[in-house]
Amino acid sequence: MAAKILVTAALPYANGPLHLGHLAGAYIPADVYVRYQRLKGSDILFICGSDEHGVPITIRADRENVSPKEIVDRYHDRMKESFRRIGLAFDNYSRTSLPLHHKIAQDFFLNLYNKGYIKEQSIQQYYCPTCRRFLPDRYIEGECPHCHRQGARGDQCEACGRWLEPEQLLSPQCKECGSTPEMRTTTHWYFRLSEFQQRLEDWQTSKTDWKSNVREFCSGWFKEGLTDRPITRDIDWGIPVPLPNADGKVLYVWFDAPIGYISSSVEWAQKQGAPDRWRDYWMNPETKLIHFIGKDNIVFHAIVWPATLMAHGDFILPSQIPANEFLNIEGDKISTSRNWAVWVDDYLEVFPPDPLRYWLESNAPESKDADFTWKDFQTSNNSELADVLGNLINRSLSFIEKNFEAKVPPSGTLRDPDRAILAEIGNATRRIGAAIEDFQVRAAVGALMDLARSGNKYFNDEAPWSSFKVDRARCATTLNTTVQLLAALAVLMEPFLPFSAEKLWRMLNAPGSHHDQRWNDVPELRLPDGHPLGKREILFSKIEDAIIEEQIAKLKK
Ligand code: 2FM
Ligand code: ZN
Repeated sequence: MAAKILVTAALPYANGPLHLGHLAGAYIPADVYVRYQRLKGSDILFICGSDEHGVPITIRADRENVSPKEIVDRYHDRMKESFRRIGLAFDNYSRTSLPLHHKIAQDFFLNLYNKGYIKEQSIQQYYCPTCRRFLPDRYIEGECPHCHRQGARGDQCEACGRWLEPEQLLSPQCKECGSTPEMRTTTHWYFRLSEFQQRLEDWQTSKTDWKSNVREFCSGWFKEGLTDRPITRDIDWGIPVPLPNADGKVLYVWFDAPIGYISSSVEWAQKQGAPDRWRDYWMNPETKLIHFIGKDNIVFHAIVWPATLMAHGDFILPSQIPANEFLNIEGDKISTSRNWAVWVDDYLEVFPPDPLRYWLESNAPESKDADFTWKDFQTSNNSELADVLGNLINRSLSFIEKNFEAKVPPSGTLRDPDRAILAEIGNATRRIGAAIEDFQVRAAVGALMDLARSGNKYFNDEAPWSSFKVDRARCATTLNTTVQLLAALAVLMEPFLPFSAEKLWRMLNAPGSHHDQRWNDVPELRLPDGHPLGKREILFSKIEDAIIEEQIAKLKK
């Protein structure tokens, strides 16, 4: 039976356009994995959507003097479209402001409440007398109690990465008006996270295949001891707490957002006309649930969310949480407020999607932060995509066009070098697959490029331009073998370079769609002798210095 896999990519806040940092952490790695698993024939569902609640949204709305609804409507549509254009192959992209999600999240809350896992507590919290509101999460800033840097937020210090509660900040200030807040009493509902420490630790002991960044992060939390956490907030944008005495209180965004993975799956099932199909994944112990995230989301996905799932009891727990490190731009942290970012839409105005995907894959921040520079992007496009992969495709196909009437030349008698390069396809197919299954996108795309390099070496060594003059049959065999390599590459490229994979398949005039091929059958894939090729086009054009200089200037402006 085909493996059942449920893949989620972190729901991005709908509070700004999509940038390269988003793509590098959660989305491109998830997309590579999903596209590969589809070719493997796995029964896989790829779920995402916009995270539309919480302080990140209301702060943006305050700043622009518009309603939170206006913000999420604007950015939900924009993000969804940017994801489509860069080739994110979600089965469903939902949004958490949907009534469907509100209902599911409220039911989830009540389920835990009725089981006694949620308790009401009266607490002291910072309140801004000028803005006349409580200051949860990012509404408050101050000095980090750990690294002592200024500008730490009420929920996290970005400088040292530690998670904070507003009360921990030294010299706290209202983020909006700079006033010194005062303490006031308010009521909140707490999830009894502390009760789950032992179960979480036992459960994670078996997760020896988790990445070390996730395991180390969690063991730090376990050592400090888990404490109960407030899962409601005093803001007026969010999902109302479904209790009679909770007027004006909403669910904390980090309580409702992961439930969004379930709601998005439910919405997907409804759109399929099979409203219960989501249960085949979420309630099936055979399903592998994989959450792709950036490192700032580890605590929520590896500790709080699994505990919530344990408390609920009807759903499966995550089996993998591949968390990536961050992407910097030209040596500096991405900052949307300082406009230090490369926006996906801006990129796509100038370049096609695949070269960016390729850069992000071959430089994925898997074990440490990565640094995007425009110069490096240019080199990766020109010296790898164009000079290695593009060149192999272009020179072999143009040779066939010119000398063999654009038809696959007869295979004739294979010799050792032909057999060696065909065997290389099998090795690469296995190597790429194993790396993707191990969440090592860099190694996987590296193995793809190595195969193209071997192809170029084979082509150079066999020198068909010489054999054409003296031994046409030998020349034909070389080109036939190269075409078989290109057909394999068209399928193997799909997880990484989906737009180019599709074009190459068409250029080969191969039957059907490359999506219908099976990964494990790639080594046996053959186009027959005499098969007419399609129209050739240049897959990867070189990028001129001037274009890159323009991008650098734009970033620095
Ligand atoms: O960090 C973020 O951008 C969050 N919006 C991620 C949420 S992931 C999930 F829980 F929905
Ligand atoms: Zn204030």
